Amino acid sequence: MANQAGGFFYHWIAFRFRKNLWKPYIEQVVSWLNAWKPPVRRLIIVGPSAGYSLPTEWLNRFESLVLIDPDPRARKKFSKIHPGLKTKPDWIIHSLFEDSDLGSWKTTIRGNTPTAILFSNFLGQLKYAEIKLPVKDFIDAIPAGTQWASYHDRYSYYGKDTIDHETGDFPRSKKMGETKWEITPGVIHQIDWVIGN
Ligand SMILES: C[S@@+](CC[C@H](N)C(=O)[O-])C[C@H]1O[C@@H](n2cnc3c(N)ncnc32)[C@H](O)[C@@H]1O
Repeated sequence: MANQAGGFFYHWIAFRFRKNLWKPYIEQVVSWLNAWKPPVRRLIIVGPSAGYSLPTEWLNRFESLVLIDPDPRARKKFSKIHPGLKTKPDWIIHSLFEDSDLGSWKTTIRGNTPTAILFSNFLGQLKYAEIKLPVKDFIDAIPAGTQWASYHDRYSYYGKDTIDHETGDFPRSKKMGETKWEITPGVIHQIDWVIGN
């Protein structure tokens, strides 16, 4: 899964397009994040990769960051992209979601309360995971009252082909916006922004 949605290829296209083709998408994400103000000092981020779409100043609002991404390159690249980060993130370099009862996901949330949770362009990748788990299960595992948010693929368009990422129906949440992400020339993703608690 890390290879589907992250890994070497993702870092390569980020290097190539982050500062040009991805700019409007990243600016929109920054504006969504700035408007989301969970009242806690700890944040769990699922799928941060190197944090290409996450502004350092926004991350610095949190005293404690728990970053979950199985990509072994993510940690080093994240510190390169965010040299001004005030806190040292706790990395979980492991796919939490390979257990079908979501045991480690639940343990991570419980072990880090109070927290807010950001799914950072991750939930749209679940349909490619080896173990099929509905998005709903991840959300249901979050204790009521915990503020969470997600930006994720809703659809992607490859020429005449449209992929439905099956992210149109989340419990306990409200869609707050959508934008286009031209990830590589001519390949467009519709990114939705959803917040919940
Ligand atoms: C589209 S990328 C995320 C982009 C990133 N948030 C950014 O700002 O550039 C999706 C990320 O999900 C990660 N991922 C894949 N499987 C995962 C899992 N089981 N748990 C957590 N992260 C996972 C991938 O390694 C990849 O870094």
